[in-house]
Amino acid sequence: MHLVIINASPRMEAKSNTARIVRTFIRGFEESGNTTEVWHLSDKKQWTSAKEAYEKNDNILFAIPLYVENVPGIMLEFLETLQPKKEDGTKMSFILQGGFAEASQLRCGEAYLEILPSYFNCEYNGTLIKGDNFGPSWMPENIADKMVAHYEKMGRLFAERGTFDKEEVNEFAAPEYFSDKEMRQHKRIGKWMQKALFHYIAKKNNCKKPLDDKPYQINKMNCTIRHMTLEDKDKVIEMMRVFYASPAVFSNGSEEIFEKDVEACVGENPYLEGYVFENGSEIQGYAMVAKSFSTEFGKPCIWIEDLYVKDDYRGWGIGSMLLNYLEKKYCGYITRIEAEEENERAIKLYKNNGFEVLPYMEMKK
Ligand SMILES: Cc1cc2nc3c(=O)[nH]c(=O)nc-3n(C[C@H](O)[C@H](O)[C@H](O)COP(=O)(O)O)c2cc1C
Repeated sequence: MHLVIINASPRMEAKSNTARIVRTFIRGFEESGNTTEVWHLSDKKQWTSAKEAYEKNDNILFAIPLYVENVPGIMLEFLETLQPKKEDGTKMSFILQGGFAEASQLRCGEAYLEILPSYFNCEYNGTLIKGDNFGPSWMPENIADKMVAHYEKMGRLFAERGTFDKEEVNEFAAPEYFSDKEMRQHKRIGKWMQKALFHYIAKKNNCKKPLDDKPYQINKMNCTIRHMTLEDKDKVIEMMRVFYASPAVFSNGSEEIFEKDVEACVGENPYLEGYVFENGSEIQGYAMVAKSFSTEFGKPCIWIEDLYVKDDYRGWGIGSMLLNYLEKKYCGYITRIEAEEENERAIKLYKNNGFEVLPYMEMKK
């Protein structure tokens, strides 16, 4: 059998895990006298030859890395150049591989590949799926080769069967999902290992910035947090009218309440603090923070009473900025916050910042 293999990775051949997997797969496949030719789509000069090979041969295998849960755009671009086969009988097979270890990650891609050949008047001839392939490109050659060595056997089996056997593939692709125990282990050890790995990769790439750097926010945001002053009163009350009229708050407040709140923020009241967010020329929002003690946690506690950002400045990270600011300022405190259940955006923000839901019903008198 002669097999045309098309590597759909956008990474150049020398750096491509798919290319390494293909080389290993071929070793097993060619053992019994089969032949192959391999084309790499990352090198556009090879596209004409790859297209001709597709037209002239009746056994085509696309080897594809998963990129953002999809086949790479470069492959779709290449497919656009192909015409459906005039004659019946061309078999199209696939190797689909990705970084995440659970086979379930690859099933969506597999379902797409099951129907893809029909658009080219080709016969679907199975997909070999397997995850856990982040590593090879970062490893020394000998270790990287070992990491993909299991593909050799699959090449041998493909030669014997002429197709990918579903059961054999599922066995090869396991685990479908991690068990609860494995998930717990990953959470405990995996986080630490991932951090170490990403630092290693960053260093290898000569990265000088910290890994949690957010350069995209610094320019855009231009926002500072400062304490509320008496001069801010009118502007803050204007924002409070909007905030308290919104579905984010259960009650509507009143002019009298707004005045009292601001006065408590800017005066001597030890229980309340007020903050405004501003960009030099405009106030972008405000927050009020009340202080108390949590007997449940045995710690002082802050309640974020109001957190309001004007429409034009939403999604800029100002809410997260305040939460980070308070976390540092009130280190060792419990921070509590209320949200209306329908306020999904606010809930997402709080959860992203590490807040957990407490199962209490709130009451007041
Ligand atoms: C930009 C990018 C996106 C990726 N997205 C996924 C993904 O969604 N799921 C996954 O399992 N692996 C993902 N991976 C990991 C690759 O599929 C994996 O490292 C693969 O072996 C790369 O093969 P290649 O070097 O031939 O391109 C991604 C890798 C990159 C660089």
